[in-house]
Amino acid sequence: MESMRWNGDSLELLDQTKLPKALEYIHCQDYRRVGLAIKRLEVRGAPAIGAAAAYGVVLGAQEVVKDADFREKVAVIAEELRQTRPTAVNLFWAIDRMMACLDACDADMANDAVAVKLEEEAKVIEELDREVNRSMSEHGATLFTEPVSILTHCNAGALATVAYGTALGVIRQAHAEGHVVRVFADETRPLLQGARLTAWELNEDGIPVTLITDNMAGWVMKQKKVQAVIVGADRITSNGDVANKIGTYSVAVLAKEHGIPFYVAAPMSTFDWTMESGDEIPIEERDADEVKHVYGVQTAPLDIDVFNPAFDVTPHEYVAAIITEKGIIHNPNKETMARFKKEKM
Ligand code: MRU
Repeated sequence: MESMRWNGDSLELLDQTKLPKALEYIHCQDYRRVGLAIKRLEVRGAPAIGAAAAYGVVLGAQEVVKDADFREKVAVIAEELRQTRPTAVNLFWAIDRMMACLDACDADMANDAVAVKLEEEAKVIEELDREVNRSMSEHGATLFTEPVSILTHCNAGALATVAYGTALGVIRQAHAEGHVVRVFADETRPLLQGARLTAWELNEDGIPVTLITDNMAGWVMKQKKVQAVIVGADRITSNGDVANKIGTYSVAVLAKEHGIPFYVAAPMSTFDWTMESGDEIPIEERDADEVKHVYGVQTAPLDIDVFNPAFDVTPHEYVAAIITEKGIIHNPNKETMARFKKEKM
């Protein structure tokens, strides 16, 4: 299962707003359509957004390749893509890499040669995501030495990355090793990424999955139906605080109360070493209609006030370990994070 396909002059994105009812691809012929797809969550999940934005920069470069002020125009396009969503740092990481690639091209290099370099860099970002998810999953699976049931929130699967997934990548690997009995998937209101995407993705792969509404997680834990929680992340700060889909924090608090380890699986591109703590992370607030409607059907008074943060921050005290492609950080905090950074980067 792959969330995107690059065709040389267009980007095909699996339309995640249509799943699970329809498997349709969006053909992005220009960077504006890529930006719109990110805003609309047609492509979503931190690593997938980053890779899509990288190809958005390539499409933009191809569009302005004949212009005298080519490099300035590519910078403006990159800036436009940066504005699409604020929380997942992978978006900025990928665009920064693309701009560094542009800056590394000699001043006398022809525009079309620069555009080719940018395309190569986007392909590296795409390929890197496949690789890191595989190694992260192998590290993560070592945490499970006997069969367990695992709860997850939102979708941190193949759909949220280029392929394989982060949290669901670990689950896939642990399942292949015979250590996953069942996955409990929170439906993840308001946009139902757990119900529409995680339940679908795991079902397609033949991994036993039980769908629950978000407010059932505590009771599922109380009844000892799960022995671990694994989620993905949109941004991890240098003290180990974790931003992820709204509702993650509640799951972490419940897990602590029930003595269940709460694991986060994320690539190094999700780490924001410039931020000291989760207090600094910009949290996206989305349209009130997402809360007042469920898939087009009105479920609340239209004139009611709504608060719709798309993410929350789980303080590091709740996190048993962060699983990365370079290894596992147990008990993340300022010191363990700094040690990991020094050893692995
Ligand atoms: O709003 P979304 O669907 O983009 O939010 C996605 C999440 O919060 C994921 O858990 C996170 O990006 C990790 S994906 C590997």
